[in-house]
Amino acid sequence: MNVRPGVEKDLPAVSAIENLCFLPEVAFSEQALEHLLRHAHTLVAVDKEVVGFVAGVVFGKTGKAITLDVHPRCRRRKIGSMLMEALEGEFAALGAKVSLLEVSSANQAALALYFALGYRYVAILESYYGPGRDAVSMQKSLVTDPYQNNIT
Ligand SMILES: CC(C)(COP(=O)(O)OP(=O)(O)OC[C@H]1O[C@@H](n2cnc3c(N)ncnc32)[C@H](O)[C@@H]1OP(=O)(O)O)[C@@H](O)C(=O)NCCC(=O)NCCS
Repeated sequence: MNVRPGVEKDLPAVSAIENLCFLPEVAFSEQALEHLLRHAHTLVAVDKEVVGFVAGVVFGKTGKAITLDVHPRCRRRKIGSMLMEALEGEFAALGAKVSLLEVSSANQAALALYFALGYRYVAILESYYGPGRDAVSMQKSLVTDPYQNNIT
């Protein structure tokens, strides 16, 4: 298993995994994924073929995770953890002090993963994914020295 930057030729594999991971109404379109592969920070996990994908962007001192996908047949092998930690490393290398994300409040697997990685709740975002479908905003500090944690 290795993790490397995503490239445009990963689009078919990434798109296939996205559609296995999310319902059509919330999955990123192929066009959106192509945009992410071109313009965002993306990483893929490869085990002979692409089995996972993560994307994020950095704005100033804040990194924002956009999507995290692990192929259903490869779950609970720490691939999601590995991808998130690699993305956080990229965020930190680019000067980010904090990593932010939003996740459906019904997504128990992702919530458990993010808690295990040290993310904590910031807010509940009511009906973020449509009527009655709430999200939670979560955040993790990327610095060990609390005096460097001021993102303003
Ligand atoms: C969420 C997701 C990325 C997790 O990927 P993964 O590679 O299976 O996660 P990991 O193996 O790194 O799991 C790390 C820890 O997270 C927690 N966890 C992960 N999946 C879990 C599940 N289904 N139920 C409970 N806890 C879970 C566990 O604490 C796990 O550690 P353990 O296996 O030692 O108990 C994967 O299930 C997925 O792609 N889901 C669909 C897409 C999605 O929801 N993405 C996140 C959107 S914000």
